[in-house]
Amino acid sequence: MITIGAQHAIALVARTLLGRGDSALVESPSYPHAYEALRLTGARLVPVSVTADDGWDESALEQTLQRASPAMGYVMPDFHNPTGRTMSPELRESMLAIALRQGTTIVADETTAELAIDAVDTPLPLAAYGPAVLIGSVGKTVWGGVRIGWIRAERQLIQKLTRARSAGDLGTPVLEQLVVANLLDDFDSILVQRSEQLRRGRDHLETVLRRAFPEWRVPHVAGGMTAWINLGAPVSSQLTLAARNEGLLLAAGPRFGIDGAFERFLRLPFGYSAEETDRAVAALETAWGSLARGPMVDSSFLAEVV
Ligand SMILES: Cc1ncc(COP(=O)(O)O)c(C=O)c1O
Repeated sequence: MITIGAQHAIALVARTLLGRGDSALVESPSYPHAYEALRLTGARLVPVSVTADDGWDESALEQTLQRASPAMGYVMPDFHNPTGRTMSPELRESMLAIALRQGTTIVADETTAELAIDAVDTPLPLAAYGPAVLIGSVGKTVWGGVRIGWIRAERQLIQKLTRARSAGDLGTPVLEQLVVANLLDDFDSILVQRSEQLRRGRDHLETVLRRAFPEWRVPHVAGGMTAWINLGAPVSSQLTLAARNEGLLLAAGPRFGIDGAFERFLRLPFGYSAEETDRAVAALETAWGSLARGPMVDSSFLAEVV
């Protein structure tokens, strides 16, 4: 099914597969608008940790599937947003095998899957290891303004989604679909260009951040479009608020978790030019300096504001 971007796909799949009282496995941190879409169904979100250093908490993922038997699991196996991590072939296989036994539908958001930067050993796509519903989009490969995404699933589920969809919208604009169909012939070269742009952006951001903030932990990511940085102190909301005063809009770490976690983390996108990144890092330096001087504010309040 062609959808109006991946967000539309996530919301549609969530409201078709989930109901009040169900549980849904999610990664923590994850893409915040997916949390919102899943929460709207009345489902309870059960988080499993992913870190920039170690990737997925494998035993927690397997045990959560076994113990909670969630109706749905929403995962980003390739260049996870925000950590940039990629799930190992072994975990793909075991996750899908347990999910199949427990009756859990695994929904993989592959919006970032084609944003490889380093030539690392990329596992096969998730669906090569077992049954999964796949969501994708051209939002990150081409442009977020082209509102075209998709859902790949068994025919039966697609029919259910079609019935669920018509109350909210009657289809994806054909003009945008034709634009994307037209790009498909050149897609490989578009991906190469995108990868080069992201490599330049990532390398530059890593270099300037390590120079400006030696106390931060800046991970090296092999793909995706964001770095999940450990600030070394629980000040993410304060920092983003101070950065806003410098004209820099960022989402604080807690936006990417549930229940206020990740106050020590900051997600920084690296898809920008060197000049824009330099301006952002200069603003962050001023903001960081103001934190060191200013009084510590109640960060639970700030998490609400940002
Ligand atoms: C992981 C992930 N999924 C889905 C989306 C939404 O994509 P779209 O613009 O196609 O709705 C985004 C956009 O930021 C994203 O990062």
